[in-house]
Amino acid sequence: MFPSSVQVTEVGTRDGLQSEKQFVPTERKIAFIRGFAAAGLRRIEATSFVSPRAVPQLADASEVVGAVRDLGPTITALVPNAKGAERAVAAGVDEMMLFISASESHSNTNLNMPIDQAIAAATPVADIARREGKVLRAAIAVAFGCPFEGDVPTATVSRIAGRLKALGINSLTLGDTTGMASPRHVEALCGRLLEDHPDVELTLHFHNTRGLGLVNVLTGLRLGIDKYESAAAGLGGCPFAAGATGNICTEDLVYMLSELGIETGVDLDAMTEVALEMERCLGRPLPGQLMRAGPRSRLHPMDSVRRAVG
Ligand code: COA
Ligand code: ZN
Repeated sequence: MFPSSVQVTEVGTRDGLQSEKQFVPTERKIAFIRGFAAAGLRRIEATSFVSPRAVPQLADASEVVGAVRDLGPTITALVPNAKGAERAVAAGVDEMMLFISASESHSNTNLNMPIDQAIAAATPVADIARREGKVLRAAIAVAFGCPFEGDVPTATVSRIAGRLKALGINSLTLGDTTGMASPRHVEALCGRLLEDHPDVELTLHFHNTRGLGLVNVLTGLRLGIDKYESAAAGLGGCPFAAGATGNICTEDLVYMLSELGIETGVDLDAMTEVALEMERCLGRPLPGQLMRAGPRSRLHPMDSVRRAVG
C-alpha cells in the first residue's frame, strides 16, 4: 500500500531560515547541515542563490555550500536566474532547483516578475546546468493554492510542469507554500500530474500552516509518491507569501514514516538533537512536536506525575 522507503530532503537551512529576521551566523548554519548529514539525511537543500537584498538571511550561500559540499549528502540550492546559477556552480552545489510560481501574484512578490519572465530567466540556468553536468530540478510554488489569488487550477500547474519539462527537467517538487493543500486536493493535483506527465518524478513539499501537513503526506504515500521535503523543528515559511508558517517537521515526518514501517535512513535521536539545537539558536519555541514529546517508546516514571486521589 505504501512505498517501502522514502527520500526525505531537509530544507531547514533554506525554507527554514529564509524568513528569520535575525541573521543566523554562517558557522551555525554549517553546523546544522553537518548535524543533518550525521543524522542520515542524504539530500539537503542548503540555501538559495537569490538576491541577497531580497533574502538577506541567505546572503552567505556561497560560504555555506563551500563548507558542506564534500560532506556526503547531495547538496541542492534554489536558483532563480543565470547569476544565481553561476554562483551556485562556483560554490560547488550538486544540484540546482529552479522555482516558478503557479500564480502571477506570487510570481510577482517572490521573483519580482511574471511567470513567463521567470521561465525565461530559468532558461540560461538549464544551459549552465547542462554545461556543468549538474542535476537540474524545479519546484512549483503555491501549487496547491495562492494566498493572494486563492485556488490554482490543476491545469495551470500541469501546464507549468510541461514548460519546465521543455527546459529538460524531469523531477518536480510541488510546493504548498502556505499550507493550503488538503487530502482531496493532493489526490486531484498529484493524480493530474501523474497522468499528464508520467515521466516526471514528483516530490511533495508541504507546510503545516493549517495542521494538515502529515495528513497530506499520508495521501501522497497512498498515491505511491516517495519523496518529501521537510524542515528540522518545523521551522520555515516564505517571506513573500502572506501567512506562511512552518514546513512539515522533519522529525515528526520521520517518526510517522518509521511507525508505518517505511525506511528513511534518518536517526530520530540525532535529528531531534539538531532540532533542539536550532531552537536554542533561535531562542524561541519551534513547532516540532516529537522534539518535545519524544517517541512513544520514551516512558516516564510514575512518580513524575500526581496521583488522582479523589
Ligand atoms: N544572486 C545574487 N544577486 C542577484 C541575483 C542572484 N541570483 N539575481 C539578481 N541579483 C542582483 C543583481 O545583480 C542586481 O544587483 P545590482 O543592483 O547590485 O546590480 C539586483 O540583484 C537586482 O537584479 P534584478 O535582475 O533587477 O532582480 P530583481 O530586483 O528583479 O529581483 C530576483 C529578481 C529573482 C533576483 C529576486 O526577486 C529574488 O532573489 N527572489 C528570490 C526570492 C526567494 O528566495 N523566495 C523564497 C523562495 S520560495
Ligand atoms: Zn516552503
